Amino acid sequence: MKIRKAVITAGGWGTRFLPITKSQPKEMLPLLNKPLIQYVVEEAVSSGIEQIILVTSLVKNAIENYFDRSFELEHFLEQKGETRLLKKLQDLSSLINVCYVRQKEQLGLGHAVLSARDVIAGEPFAVLLPDDIIEGKVPALKQMIAVYEQYKTSVVAVQRISSQDAPKYGVITPKEVSGRTYQILSLVEKPTPQKAPSNLGVVGRYILTPQIFDALAVTTPGKNREIQLTDALQLLLEQQLVYGYEFEGERYDTGTPLGWLEATVAFGLKHPDFGPAFREHLRKLL
Ligand code: G1P
Repeated sequence: MKIRKAVITAGGWGTRFLPITKSQPKEMLPLLNKPLIQYVVEEAVSSGIEQIILVTSLVKNAIENYFDRSFELEHFLEQKGETRLLKKLQDLSSLINVCYVRQKEQLGLGHAVLSARDVIAGEPFAVLLPDDIIEGKVPALKQMIAVYEQYKTSVVAVQRISSQDAPKYGVITPKEVSGRTYQILSLVEKPTPQKAPSNLGVVGRYILTPQIFDALAVTTPGKNREIQLTDALQLLLEQQLVYGYEFEGERYDTGTPLGWLEATVAFGLKHPDFGPAFREHLRKLL
């Protein structure tokens, strides 16, 4: 079955970015002139996704407004003859069909995904975490969908991590299958460096079969007292194969202020208009 739907989780408090996230969704922080969430929505669209289910919560209205039409603003731009800006806004609101699900309590990533169960309605689907911005020739999700099409079972994105970073990731026990693909033998959420079973950490792109929902429904709070998607995947392993795929591309973790700054600098340096001037400025600073 084709992967048509993608869940994007945007329900968390963004505590690492407080106080700005008190009234501004973390996902709306800018990376140059676009909010973070737009990068993942565009990745989903260019990977062939037809519907996005955005899991949101309190204080996230700005996201809904952003992907909606604003007739007043369009009218204003039209009157002023700002046709290029007008087209940009219209392209944005017609980018994709988005539906919103509210996560009423912040009980973790697994709980956020479970909130989308009814809208997914028994299909295999994708999950994208907007903290993880991935740049590559082929969109990371598209690469994952190709692996799903080959094995017809759940696929989790992984990348090599240093052992000291293991407490930030889900970490897999891999069995090499071919090149970049691994069969996952087990997974553990945020282990200590000593307990990490490998140097392959989970990154926020997943293709999941609908059986994940039954697993999530019986998953009890784990690491940080949250319902972890990693723990549900571990349960899923009892009934189906799950693969890990080492995607090609550069990944930025914009979920922390330092990671967000790194992404901002990297994107700024590459920008065709102001990249050279920005490089010069950084050179002077250093
Ligand atoms: C989540 C997942 C973790 C994964 C990470 C990737 O953690 O729980 O397994 O490795 O995303 O970004 P979070 O970063 O939300 O704490």
